Amino acid sequence: MAQARGEFSSRFGFIMAAAGSAVGLGNIWGFPTQAASNGGAAFLIVYLILAFVLAYPALMAELVLGRHAHANAVTALKGTSEKPVLRNLGATAGIVGFIVASLILSFYAIVAGWMIAHCLSSFASLFGADAIAQWLVGFSLSRNVVFMALFMGLTISIISAGVRDGIERWSSRLMPLLLLTLFALVAYVLTLDGASEGLRVYLMPDFESALSPQLIIKALGSAFFSLSLGVGTMLIYGSYISDKENLPVAGGLVTAVDIGIAVLAGFLVLPAMYVALNNGVEIFAENGSLLSEDTLIFTVLPELFSNMGLAGGVVSLTFFFLMSIAALTSSISMLEVPVAYTIENHGVNRLKAVWVIGTIIAIVSLIILLNFGSLFGLVIAFTTRYSQPLLGFVFCIYVGWIWHRDAVLTELKKGAPEIADGWFWKIWPWHLRLVCPSIILLIFVQSLR
Ligand code: PFF
Repeated sequence: MAQARGEFSSRFGFIMAAAGSAVGLGNIWGFPTQAASNGGAAFLIVYLILAFVLAYPALMAELVLGRHAHANAVTALKGTSEKPVLRNLGATAGIVGFIVASLILSFYAIVAGWMIAHCLSSFASLFGADAIAQWLVGFSLSRNVVFMALFMGLTISIISAGVRDGIERWSSRLMPLLLLTLFALVAYVLTLDGASEGLRVYLMPDFESALSPQLIIKALGSAFFSLSLGVGTMLIYGSYISDKENLPVAGGLVTAVDIGIAVLAGFLVLPAMYVALNNGVEIFAENGSLLSEDTLIFTVLPELFSNMGLAGGVVSLTFFFLMSIAALTSSISMLEVPVAYTIENHGVNRLKAVWVIGTIIAIVSLIILLNFGSLFGLVIAFTTRYSQPLLGFVFCIYVGWIWHRDAVLTELKKGAPEIADGWFWKIWPWHLRLVCPSIILLIFVQSLR
């Protein structure tokens, strides 16, 4: 039996939810550490160009299609054509998208669990519970399983409450909190000795490393990952937007918040790394390059915080709290993708769909944890490096070539007649047809070599 679909109550609610999906570990951990090891401001420039030239147009494709169909990606892609072959291929891409979203969640829940554990460890240290604090930061199977399960439990409980009472309510509470926490941390870290060296590294471009193909591939993967593209997350959030909403503006705001927070996080993480160096914590490997991204977050920063006494404890707690919130507003959007499909296309009720799918994903996370050495990196590369750009390519083709151009423009104009008549939106369909798929394919082929 068809069930009533949810809808965001306001533009603010949508922006908080979609920006909540976009802003995650990718912004606060991935972007700053990648910028640090790949040419600082030069990486930032490549990332900004890719975000505006590729990610924003691709985000708009998902939002427009989602809002038009008011349905999940499988139904929406199928509805773009009358031809059975194209309908079936579209539905298949939608299904692959929801599998990839679930797989992303399966590794994301593990990493997010570490963030919660580090946050609680700082709390335990403040009260002198050192044995517990040690267990919380040690890499043990028991710690990893407990916190992955806890994080999945939180994600499941928010999604169970539905679009307005779950996704919108929690994103609207957590995102402002995230922003406040981030500002406070940046302001504090910038007052410490050594921070200016971090700023210098962040803001001085090193173009030699920024123009390498390897780096551009990384920046593309990051831009797609960061805006949660390709897997149907933004499409499903788009499907919950009212027809009166101005989509180009709403999509633009989401992109701006996402990029703004990544850039802001750079002002926290890079200076903090150099403050750590100033305090005798090593941030470079023997060959002179920076330590790996996870060593920087899980070893360098905690070591820095522990050298800073009580203030360090509070900063550490706040930092990992920030990471946990960022992860949670993203994970709910990942779980919503398979859940929405199961509710809409198989008539299952929300509570049942959320629990069954959430449990299956937690089991996949468990399998990854049991085979950590071989599966963890593999799942990340398969989902973020290959699947997301390729699925993004499919969205560009379906919205650019297969769906009727007039239908696309009519949808775009709902709620935005003046903007959608501008030159940008006359070019955009061509951009989606030609420029986006070509660049994605080019970079993708490069990455296979
Ligand atoms: N955008 C999130 C981040 O930057 O951490 C990750 C993400 C969320 C990827 C949702 C994919 C997705 F569907």
